This record gives sequence, C-alpha cells and structure tokens, in this order.
Amino acid sequence: MADLQARIAGVVFRNPLIISSGPLTFNAEAILKAWRQGASGAVTKTITLHPAVNPTPHIARADAVGNLLNSEKWSDLPAEQWLHEEIPALRDAGGGVIIASVGHTAADVQVLAAPLAEAGAHMLEVVSYQSADMAPAVRVAKASAGVPVFAKVSANWPDLLETVEACLRAGADGITAIDSIGPALAIDIETRRPRLAGPWGFGWLSGAAIKPIAIRVVAEIALRWDVPILGVGGIAKAEDIVEMVMAGATAVQAHTAPLLHGPGWIGKTLKRLDEWLESHGIASLSELRGAALPYLSAGEDSRPLEFAYNPETCTECGRCVAVCAYGALGVDDKRMMRDRTLCRSCGLCASVCPTGALRISGKA
Ligand SMILES: Cc1cc2nc3c(=O)[nH]c(=O)nc-3n(C[C@H](O)[C@H](O)[C@H](O)COP(=O)(O)O)c2cc1C
Ligand code: SF4
Ligand code: SF4
Repeated sequence: MADLQARIAGVVFRNPLIISSGPLTFNAEAILKAWRQGASGAVTKTITLHPAVNPTPHIARADAVGNLLNSEKWSDLPAEQWLHEEIPALRDAGGGVIIASVGHTAADVQVLAAPLAEAGAHMLEVVSYQSADMAPAVRVAKASAGVPVFAKVSANWPDLLETVEACLRAGADGITAIDSIGPALAIDIETRRPRLAGPWGFGWLSGAAIKPIAIRVVAEIALRWDVPILGVGGIAKAEDIVEMVMAGATAVQAHTAPLLHGPGWIGKTLKRLDEWLESHGIASLSELRGAALPYLSAGEDSRPLEFAYNPETCTECGRCVAVCAYGALGVDDKRMMRDRTLCRSCGLCASVCPTGALRISGKA
C-alpha cells in the first residue's frame, strides 16, 4: 500500500482526493456520503450572507463525454444553517477534513470567517467571481479565523498570477486552482434553446476539457511559489491525480467526475491510484510532487523526433496512419514505415496509439 497521505498547512489529509465545492457538498449529509466513499476532505458549497436562488435548469452535460456546464450559484442554504447545523454535524461525525468555502466579498468573509472556524471548519477556502475581491477577502479571513486559509483562483482572470501573489501577500496559506471556465454556451438543437437557464443561457465549463488548463495553472503557480496547491479541474481518473501532483499540486479536488459517475467513483479512483503507484515502485505520492517542473522551460526544441515501435503490442488498428496529415506513415504486416522526408515530427501518431506500441523515443 503506497503512502497517500498529504499534510497541507498543518492539516493531515489521509489521501489526496478532496471533493470540491458544488452540489455534492450541498449539506452535511452529502459530505458525509463522500467521506464514507473515501474522500479525505470536502469543500462546502460556497457560503455567503444570502442564500442563492438558482435558475432552472442549471446543470447540463456539455457533450457526450465528461464535461458539464453549470449556471449554479453559491449555496442555497442560509449561512445560519451552515453555522449551527451542517458544520457542527460534520465536526461531530468526523471522518474527513471540513473546508468551508466562503465568499464572495471581504464584507461577506468578515462576517462569516470566524464563525465558520468556530463551528468546526478545519480550513477556509475563499472564493470570488472578481479577482480584485480576492486579496481583501483573504486578508479579513486571516485576521479573524485561526485556521488555514486557501484562495481559490480562476483561469478566467487575465491577472491570475498577480491575484495569486496578492492573496499570498494577504496571508493565504495556499492556493486552490482552478474554478470552472467560461462563460460557455450549449444549445439543444431539437428545441433551439440554450441547455441552461440564466442570463443568455451562459454557464461554466467543468470536467475533462478543462484539465490541461488546470494543470498549466498549477504548474505556473508551483514554478513561482513554494506553497501548498490544491489542483482542481477535470480530475477523472487516478492518472489525472498523478499528473496534477507532477505539475506541483499537493492534493487534488474533483467534482464533475464524481457527480457524473456517482460516489463509488471516489473509492475506485483511490484504489487505482494505489495500484498505479505500486506498479511504478513509488512508495509515497508526495515523492512525485512537482516531478514535471524541471522539464518545463521557456525554450523551444525543434529537432526531428525518433520513434520506437513494438510489433508485439501493435494491433494494426491504423489510427497512427489515419491521423498523419502528411501521409508519412504506413503499417503493414507489423512493420512500421515512416517517410522521413514527409514527416514533420508533429508527434500526433504516437499520442493516439491506444496500446503504446508507437512511442516517441527521443530526438535526432
Ligand atoms: C454544478 C457545479 C457547481 C459548482 N459550484 C461551486 C461553488 O459553489 N463554489 C466553488 O468554489 N466552485 C464551484 N464549482 C466549481 C468546482 O468546485 C470546480 O472548481 C470545477 O468544477 C472544476 O473541477 P471539476 O472539473 O473536477 O468539476 C461548481 C462546479 C459545478 C460543476
Ligand atoms: S510525427 Fe506527425 S508527421 Fe510524422 S508520421 Fe507522425 S503524425 Fe505523421
Ligand atoms: S496506432 Fe498503435 S496499435 Fe494502432 S497501428 Fe499504430 S502503432 Fe499499431
């Protein structure tokens, strides 16, 4: 059994999988369900001074795969209910780390931060729609609540890194990256109407499609600051957790995958993570933190690619040949032929090979 434990700002998480803020954390009962499935922590649905009233419908599939659009607002429960019923119930039941999501302005956070910590939240996660609200909100949270404060940032902000810096200066103990991305729009072609209600039918994209953006943001933060990072966006399988940690995350949060696949996804993903680490001879997930960062550089390398081809694992499916826009590749009777005069070394053929029979082996 590999060591999956993560220690974040002095708080111990028994594994790196936390359920992020959203419908799966709408109250204590929902959070307890996630903990029972194995999640080490949960971020509450965002708590503000005024309960939300959501447009209907406000969650829809963005496509046939693992992506969602939502126009869901913050928590529809009154803050008083979180303070006097939901968080105390979680504290009394135990079983996971309670992270209270609080926003969206310094004024809200000023009122709510200390009572949330007193009610039993182990950590706070400050969130806002506006980047300019973040540092002031973090500052008041740090001044009033005696628990670690994370700042949740959005890749929608052009001043994302400046906001991270401002939040860290304001005392943030770590960064959660990223929120869902948008605005985005999906139309039901049968009804000709937007899939979501709300202004213009616009919503926010989450799931597998945003993972590469989340990975990039986490890496950008990890390259600049030595702070704990909770990586969130498109975590759908164990390998995604490994990738996020290699980009610099200390632990991850997920929402779209457990929402689409049901809470059983949590236990299955943790089991597969343990198997992956064991099969790669890695004793502790924390060993992998930032493992990809030394390979990120501002430079550019244009030398031609070399490939390794394994006829034993090749199924002759022809995908590598089909995707070559330059007609440079052929597979026949378990022989791979590449016309080097046509090949542009784009790398796509190896990246679509389903069995790993064709791999990039180096540079000429
Ligand atoms: C339906 C839905 C509601 C969400 N509500 C909140 C929220 O109240 N507060 C918040 O900080 N993030 C909220 N999020 C964003 C998620 O916590 C997460 O940052 C985002 O979905 C990316 O992760 P994922 O791709 O694993 O879903 C919501 C996401 C979804 C899908
Ligand atoms: S690297 Fe690109 S151009 Fe070269 S064979 Fe593969 S797909 Fe074709
Ligand atoms: S994609 Fe992979 S498995 Fe399919 S033909 Fe090419 S090398 Fe073989």
